[in-house]
Amino acid sequence: MPNDILPTVNRQEILCAELPADPCGLVIFGASGDLTRRKLLGSLFELYKKDLLTEPFYVLGCGRSQMSDEQFRQIVSELLLPMSPSSHKTQAFLEKIFFTAGDYDNGSIYRNIKNRLDDLDRKLNVRGRHIFYLSVPPDIYADVAQGLGSAGLAQSPAAIVIEKPFGRDLQSAVTLNKAVHEYFDESQIYRIDHYMGKETVQNILMFRFANAIFEPVWNRNYIDHVQITIAESIGVEHRAAYYETSGAIRDMFQNHMMSMLGLVAMEPPLSFHAEHIRNEKIKLLSSIRPIDLHDGDQEFVRGQYTGGVIDGKPVAGYRQEHGVRPDSQTETYIAARLYIDNWRWQGVPFYLRTGKRLPQRLTEIAIEFKPVPHSLFASIGLDSFPPNVLVLKIQPDEGISLSFQAKRPGSKACMATLNMDFNYAEVFGHQPPEAYQRLLLDCMTGDQTLFVRQDDVEYCWSLLEPVLRGCTQGAMPLYDYPAGAQSFPAADNLLHKNGRAWRKI
Ligand code: BG6
Repeated sequence: MPNDILPTVNRQEILCAELPADPCGLVIFGASGDLTRRKLLGSLFELYKKDLLTEPFYVLGCGRSQMSDEQFRQIVSELLLPMSPSSHKTQAFLEKIFFTAGDYDNGSIYRNIKNRLDDLDRKLNVRGRHIFYLSVPPDIYADVAQGLGSAGLAQSPAAIVIEKPFGRDLQSAVTLNKAVHEYFDESQIYRIDHYMGKETVQNILMFRFANAIFEPVWNRNYIDHVQITIAESIGVEHRAAYYETSGAIRDMFQNHMMSMLGLVAMEPPLSFHAEHIRNEKIKLLSSIRPIDLHDGDQEFVRGQYTGGVIDGKPVAGYRQEHGVRPDSQTETYIAARLYIDNWRWQGVPFYLRTGKRLPQRLTEIAIEFKPVPHSLFASIGLDSFPPNVLVLKIQPDEGISLSFQAKRPGSKACMATLNMDFNYAEVFGHQPPEAYQRLLLDCMTGDQTLFVRQDDVEYCWSLLEPVLRGCTQGAMPLYDYPAGAQSFPAADNLLHKNGRAWRKI
């Protein structure tokens, strides 16, 4: 073929090409559970449709209910129906799905799994590794890990994937880590924080370190403060049994909020290598100023929603939700002001908030820059210059926006605030893929970058120890906020004292 008609592939396309998974057998514990139905199976199917699951591979679902392979396939096919009405691909995917039942606290399930895996590996000619995905209640993580270990299923290259919450405080996280480490080495453990799988969260590092113009201003000299928000309009839904033992601190703050804080505030890692990024996150977490609930200046505020209105419809208060105790002290909202004691961030407050039953679903990181030092437009006072704000929009309208002042047609001093917006869906023609696709693919290719390391989990819990203690010892008041409210006075005071305000949700 003459050279001038050789197909050309540019470097960018090579970098964008996904690396397909290595052949493997994926075992899902909790196969008939909520997460498997809502996220895992659909994500696996998407990967399969994109030819990213290298043959041979299979999925072995495990659960308590007795079910044949056929019955489980029937459930899966109904779930996939909206994604792909009975196609050749769907049929081929279903043929790779199997099921085995048993009680997780009974050793025989792990022996059965081992026999089943041996059998499937032989029949389907899979010579890859086994990945065990724990989509089960957190209180049985240790039992499952140990059951796998005792059945001889934990030897490398096997991997174990563990959903959050990883422990419910420092002590329990340390104990759980020890139990899992009895059989699995850290390099085999994939602790999931699904926020890390979101394209827009991954974009934080790309944005900061693939551009030369942001890093010079990414510090205390130019940034006034940072606001990180995860607002949800949904309530506790059908998850009261779990949520009552968790609350917003354990459910969202210890993991998703801290991961976003880590990415936005960390120092440049040596490279994009998993351990380099994870090391920087640990350095950052260990620079967060310890929380002192007794210094008289409230840094953490808890709230619980009462009845209210969302999208024009009345909704019940948390205590009236099905399965919630009528005197529940569980927080559905948490806001905090954190400081990072290092050279870059000294004195810059990081305001973090997350809550259920807020006016709308919105996740964003807003970086508010310092005001201009002097007004040279005689008729415009300094307070008429809104500060520049850079917003990393995580969801639902994924993108980036930068606000700035500009001349507006009119008098010479006529000024307006403009937004420079980039929207993922508009530019790339589709919404970013479901986070679980990324995470499943990464654990199949053995890339731990987006997964949470043991020391990370423990640092986050140790930072929150005083807050968790404060909640049980009555040192952390629980404020009411009506469903659909933007905020409430105690949460506002976190910023008002410094003349700042929460961004609108
Ligand atoms: C989960 C929490 O980790 O994240 C849920 O347990 C929460 O309570 C969910 O609703 C939010 O995730 P997303 O991806 O919808 O923002």
